[in-house]
Amino acid sequence: MLYNLKDIIRLVDEENRGIAAFNVFGYEDSQAVIDAAEEIGRPVILMANKDAVNHMGVEMIGEIMRHVGLGSKVPVAVHLDHATDLEIIGRAVACGYTSVMFDGSQLPFEENVEMTKKVARMAHEKDVSVEAEIGAVGYSDPAIKFNARFTEPQEAKRFADLTGVDALAVAIGTVHRMEMQKAELQFERLREIARQVDIPLVIHGSTGVTDEDLTKLVACGARKINIGTALRMEFGQTLRRQFEEDPKAFDRIKLFGPCMEAVKEKAVQKMQLL
Ligand code: G3H
Ligand code: ZN
Repeated sequence: MLYNLKDIIRLVDEENRGIAAFNVFGYEDSQAVIDAAEEIGRPVILMANKDAVNHMGVEMIGEIMRHVGLGSKVPVAVHLDHATDLEIIGRAVACGYTSVMFDGSQLPFEENVEMTKKVARMAHEKDVSVEAEIGAVGYSDPAIKFNARFTEPQEAKRFADLTGVDALAVAIGTVHRMEMQKAELQFERLREIARQVDIPLVIHGSTGVTDEDLTKLVACGARKINIGTALRMEFGQTLRRQFEEDPKAFDRIKLFGPCMEAVKEKAVQKMQLL
């Protein structure tokens, strides 16, 4: 069953728990995440990032996520991740995403507020939830030109009040696309933001967070925990292992079975920490 972001987070907030939001890139990882969520009876968020949208179009990846979500026994939200283009956001809202993120983290404060408000007006009209970002979570790849900066609690409160968004992504030390769980987090900053801001907080780049800290993030007030790289690594490494064992293998359906199993196991493990 499909939920928007606001309602799905409310479910986990009532039990003081977090919800995992996984980046997915097609049928195999989408279904594996749903299987994981059903196995442990947890709600889950499927997210399309820019790479997936550029690869197959916002409607195609959206339709895959919606289809597996609609067939699921657990609550599922279908989310557009890190969008900067209002045209793409409009298409996501029109084709049935239940949630969109406008990422204005590289814009000056006032411009971020104005653009985010515009997105919120467009999305809320269709009962689609909106996530935005204040501060900026950086990338581990130095080739990506990006100004990372920590979130200031007062600025976060002002931003949330001015924009009326449903969830707020904050920068407290995570870094996107880390392959090791080595991020150094500023929990006191997170606690202070949570004290000042009423809406649910989102942590990006959570692959780089240690298992212990994932649990602590939720205890300190974070609710939506975004994980991408960890599942991509499981999928890719499992594929590679199979080619090493059988260099003549070529049948994708046979090859993808173990990859889906590996993604499912990793998703279960991450969800249990939240
Ligand atoms: O928006 C997506 C997440 O922030 C994923 O980050 O790939 O570092 O886990 P990650
Ligand atoms: Zn992110």
